Amino acid sequence: MNQKKSKKKIKSRWKLLPGVEPTEMDLKILEAQEKGILVPTRKLIKTPQQIEGIRKAGVLNTDVLDYVSEHIREGMSTLEIDKLVHDFTVEHGGTPAPLNYFGFPKSCCTSVNDVVCHGIPCDWEILEEGDIVNVDVTTIVDGYYADASRMFVIGKTDAENQKLVDVAWECLKIGEKVCSEPYVCVGDLGSAISKHAHKNGFSVVREYCGHGVGVEFHEDPEVEHVGKPGTGMLLVPGMTFTIEPMINMGDPDICEDEEDETGWIVLTEDGLPSAQWEHTYLMTENGVEIITH
Ligand code: MF3
Ligand code: CO
Ligand code: CO
Repeated sequence: MNQKKSKKKIKSRWKLLPGVEPTEMDLKILEAQEKGILVPTRKLIKTPQQIEGIRKAGVLNTDVLDYVSEHIREGMSTLEIDKLVHDFTVEHGGTPAPLNYFGFPKSCCTSVNDVVCHGIPCDWEILEEGDIVNVDVTTIVDGYYADASRMFVIGKTDAENQKLVDVAWECLKIGEKVCSEPYVCVGDLGSAISKHAHKNGFSVVREYCGHGVGVEFHEDPEVEHVGKPGTGMLLVPGMTFTIEPMINMGDPDICEDEEDETGWIVLTEDGLPSAQWEHTYLMTENGVEIITH
């Protein structure tokens, strides 16, 4: 969620289905497992019917973000963004997943400037010229989930902020490119993403990561945006997950907002801005496909 990294270690063991010829995928997974690579459980590989449902959620999720992008402007409160998201989603037959999710009080996250993620829309937060804002939307349609976020620049921002927004986008695209074939590991993309951020003088948040998504809001695997190649879970056809790197202008360290009673809001410790883009992806035989285009 922008999933908080969990401390528990998990390991799944891939088993062949009794009486069924092993598929090419079975063999690839077993080969990886023998090398000590973390492999998915069968449950994480979506059925065609589940994929169809997740695609539908993806279409509405994209429409919601397009709607936000048409209306977001200077002088608007983040609560007004929340209303746009809530009303549009409900009017089109969806449900905003964040609303009441573990006590989250609103229908989307609005993270302005030094808010890393999980910013809570409110009426006193007014968008000003130069602000950089992440709007993170997750939509449920017929029980299936899709999750994506975009950065919005209010008017014109300064060169460093703009660079941060652009590099965060490039980091997402780099993660995507690493996934242009199946049977890569989460650590392969984390390594490539963090290299690009560091090369540009920025840092990557370590405590929150991307995640499996589709049947639930947050599923395995944890998609870390830092890591070593060949570590983390193997990504195989049929898996649906997000990539959502949070890139900080300054230090990677984060902290909680003392005034936030819900405990959701995540800030940069040094007060410098942070940027993030997110898509939901489906891994296929030919690499990832964007579900939230
Ligand atoms: N959409 C966020 C993510 O990318 C999670 C937000 S949880 C909420 O995973 F409750 F804050 F909405
Ligand atoms: Co997400
Ligand atoms: Co999200």
